[in-house]
Amino acid sequence: MKQEELIALIPCAGTGERYGQIIPKQYSEINGKTILEHTLQPFINSKRINKIVLIAKASDTMIEAYQKLSAKIIIKKVGGDTRAQSVRNGLQAIKCQSNVWVLVHDAARCCLTEDLLNKLITEVSDDEVGGILAAPATDTVKYTIKNVAIEIDRTIPRERIYLAQTPQMFRYNTLLQALSLDNLTQITDEASAIEMLGLKVKVVESCISNIKVTNPIDRIIAEVLLKSEK
Ligand code: CTP
Ligand code: MG
Repeated sequence: MKQEELIALIPCAGTGERYGQIIPKQYSEINGKTILEHTLQPFINSKRINKIVLIAKASDTMIEAYQKLSAKIIIKKVGGDTRAQSVRNGLQAIKCQSNVWVLVHDAARCCLTEDLLNKLITEVSDDEVGGILAAPATDTVKYTIKNVAIEIDRTIPRERIYLAQTPQMFRYNTLLQALSLDNLTQITDEASAIEMLGLKVKVVESCISNIKVTNPIDRIIAEVLLKSEK
């Protein structure tokens, strides 16, 4: 049976403000390689992924160097002001069939393993809508309100709390439709936009090791995780 085409779409147009370095965080190094190089590895290695689209800012001068890493890589310098805009612009910039699967993955989520990537693909390929990797919460979850201080409003049953990660896998046409909705300024992942269409997104159980490098402390965690994967 011929396998369906799968496209990875990696938004790389952020500045990494919380990470606190002068260069965008995807270009800073961990264990001798840039975060983006680590991030690309499972997609380059996976036989299931046919194309890898990198979405960078128009002014980005560092992204071209990544072309040589794999013949699967396509660079589109169409990044927007928000992540949702970057992904939407990236979708509009590529030519593909309208029902092709697209896996959107953060440039800064550099500890994804090929096993987790393949698990997502296997478990979502026969879903109607699509799905995401997410890790079950392990801490007790407090829903808070802010008065003079931050106070607990209530405790949320932990069994139902999953922390959304990437890749997030949806059909091209559904994703583009969702990301063309108004009021996307607050959303930080693709699933949120799909939910706004009223569709049900599948959760594929992941592991907290699939971290996103966000704050400076995450570099230390990623350093250890990347060493342990080797
Ligand atoms: N991203 C993007 N376009 C934007 C904003 C973010 O392509 N306008 C990308 C980032 O490059 C990153 C992913 O979305 O790969 C996840 O975003 P985040 O971790 O928030 O990265 P930054 O926005 O770069 O970091 P910060 O919010 O700390 O500035
Ligand atoms: Mg951001």
